[in-house]
Amino acid sequence: MRRTILLANQKGGVGKSSIAAAIAVAVARRGKRVLVVDADQQGNCTIRDLGVRDSDEGRSLAMTLQYGTPLEPIRKVRDGLDVVCGGKHMAMAGTVVSSAEQTGINPLQNLHGALENLVTTEGYDLVLIDSGPGDRAVLDLLLQIVSWLIVPTKEDDGSMDGAELLAHRYLWARKNGALVELMGMVLFDCNPRAVRRNEGTLGKIMELLDGTGIEPFRNFIRHDKAAAIDARAFHLTAEELIGFSPARPEGRSDDETSKRWSRDTEPLATDYQKLTKEVLVRLAAGERAKETA
Ligand SMILES: Nc1ncnc2c1ncn2[C@@H]1O[C@H](COP(=O)(O)OP(=O)(O)OP(=O)(O)O)[C@@H](O)[C@H]1O
Ligand SMILES: [Mg+2]
Repeated sequence: MRRTILLANQKGGVGKSSIAAAIAVAVARRGKRVLVVDADQQGNCTIRDLGVRDSDEGRSLAMTLQYGTPLEPIRKVRDGLDVVCGGKHMAMAGTVVSSAEQTGINPLQNLHGALENLVTTEGYDLVLIDSGPGDRAVLDLLLQIVSWLIVPTKEDDGSMDGAELLAHRYLWARKNGALVELMGMVLFDCNPRAVRRNEGTLGKIMELLDGTGIEPFRNFIRHDKAAAIDARAFHLTAEELIGFSPARPEGRSDDETSKRWSRDTEPLATDYQKLTKEVLVRLAAGERAKETA
């Protein structure tokens, strides 16, 4: 499906949800219509990153996979941003997908049809799909649906191994007729001052991508734990945290729950802005190339 980007890495904790939420909010803030599909049973992107109220905890998405019912997003999570929720109901999705042949259910067709209907009706400019770590059956299915893949990774070996596993799933999907294209890998939670080390990590990524002609993203997401904690505590992206001060419950000036840990989220917000721009440029160029082809 056009203009549909999957964020995936077989390893957990590499920034898939954080990046999906940050790009989604950034694009919606610039007046575009965005849909986030949270395909992870943890539902982190839905609850922690975007702070969706009245989440269905993955029910609509799970029902769509199994029965082909229409997707029911939570609307206006931000202006221009709708969310198909993730959560506990997606725990069964792996079984539904992997037992499809025996049961006669066609989860791929079910999701593809429902997503296409929703995107056509709502006219989204961009669809971002966040995936969970490890669930190979669901991952393989998502790779058949999306047009683009972004692989976030940290610089440690575990995350790189996860990226490598993912690269294999990607190549397998392509071999089986999927039209998905790898848009790039992006370094997450890294030290912007460790330029040489980052280059080394990017070198490793290049080896993984050898022969595909794909460059890793030039922009990376820096380590900023305080901002990350605040982002999830207040369900705001680094960009939204700029100038945000939490309301204190009346009469309690030292309330820990309303405390903000980060002083300045602007550098992190700038990383996300630059990455968003790079993603949109690659998307536009890539979609044009696909059209001409
Ligand atoms: N800039 C940052 N610096 C340091 N830590 C961060 C930063 N941004 C987010 N984090 C933290 O890193 C952790 C992993 O991020 P995130 O949940 O986005 O990864 P994920 O790949 O979606 O994980 P999972 O596979 O479990 O869904 C979270 O605890 C998050 O709060
Ligand atoms: Mg996640």
